[in-house]
Amino acid sequence: MNTPQTMLALVQRSAGYAEDLRSLVPESLEPYVDAATVETPHPGRGQVLIRMSLAPVNPSDIAFIMGVYGQPRIAGAPAGFEGVGEVVVSGGGFLADRLVGRRVSCFAGISGTWAEYAVAEARACIPLRKDIRDEDGAALLVNPFSAWALRDLIRARGTKAFVMTAGASQLGKLLVPLAAGSGLRPISLVRRAEQVDPLLRLGAAHVLNTEDAGFADALRVTLKAERPRVLLDALANDLACTVFGAMGPRSRWIVYGGLGYASLTMPQPGQFIFASKQIEGFWLTRWIQDGGLVRMARASRGVQARFASGSWTTDVAARVPLSEAHDRVPGLLAGPNRGKVLLDASNPSSG
Ligand SMILES: NC(=O)c1ccc[n+]([C@@H]2O[C@H](COP(=O)([O-])OP(=O)(O)OC[C@H]3O[C@@H](n4cnc5c(N)ncnc54)[C@H](OP(=O)(O)O)[C@@H]3O)[C@@H](O)[C@H]2O)c1
Repeated sequence: MNTPQTMLALVQRSAGYAEDLRSLVPESLEPYVDAATVETPHPGRGQVLIRMSLAPVNPSDIAFIMGVYGQPRIAGAPAGFEGVGEVVVSGGGFLADRLVGRRVSCFAGISGTWAEYAVAEARACIPLRKDIRDEDGAALLVNPFSAWALRDLIRARGTKAFVMTAGASQLGKLLVPLAAGSGLRPISLVRRAEQVDPLLRLGAAHVLNTEDAGFADALRVTLKAERPRVLLDALANDLACTVFGAMGPRSRWIVYGGLGYASLTMPQPGQFIFASKQIEGFWLTRWIQDGGLVRMARASRGVQARFASGSWTTDVAARVPLSEAHDRVPGLLAGPNRGKVLLDASNPSSG
């Protein structure tokens, strides 16, 4: 297929890392990405070129363009980790050749998805079933695979109940029904009253609003009744520290996000010495690297089956043409979580 020589993309303005973690709700995209016409990238061997349809703006994308993610920025390269599109060119190799013409979810680690075209390793592409909506295909990897991995991690820790901060996140809304369906008991923490009932309907055993005057008592009663041994935490702040401190011996604080990050006072050392409590991290990239093809294939089938059956759905706040990202994305990310903001590359320059 003939691909255009140039394309519209949101390209990173800076290289490397930033000095410090700051708020992950950007007031503007201006300091981080430019909307620019750049050369369409070429796939190397084992890679494919994807004509992008939709790509989400995830917290990990924001952390990355701000320079506080787990890999360095490359100035001038398109941002955006995941998305959905059609493979139009193979760079050669058995797997890449077989993907040409397929609609795929991709993790584009080479030339990002906030662009009309992206380059991904063929093994980082998931061919999609026909009954998966583009909106679900766009956000099929980062959160759904993390929900899948975290469910398995909770089971491996031998606890039935677990606590989750940022409970109303997209990841939280995927994990709750998955975990409840596996016999686990999610205790979701949220900060807005209107987030309580939807999570209970999805299968949470308890939903506690951290802004309620009675939160501390409700937490104490719930922890005593449920005895959770895992805290899944996307905030890394004092709230998480307090919850962890109230949990019982042998509890694990698993940090997988830094949405509320603030310098913390070291938890009481006796928790680690005498109560065998532990703090650890989770990163999907590492889970994929460590897991091998069989685990990925099983997760891929399970994730797609859930979206196809309607037991999972991606909430969408808006579809934003690439060229309008600077004007519209910061406003859409501010305030309560209304769902994913999807950058629309099939319609790059008109609303
Ligand atoms: N480590 C990994 O491999 C991995 C993989 C996937 C996702 N993640 C992480 O998982 C987290 C959730 O991702 P997502 O895409 O599901 O997010 P999302 O849909 O954008 O939702 C973010 C949620 O976090 C809440 N939140 C933000 N700042 C908060 C604060 N200071 N205090 C309390 N709540 C706060 C928001 O609450 P409101 O609705 O009340 O505003 C919102 O519900 C992110 O940190 C992401 O980086 C990590």
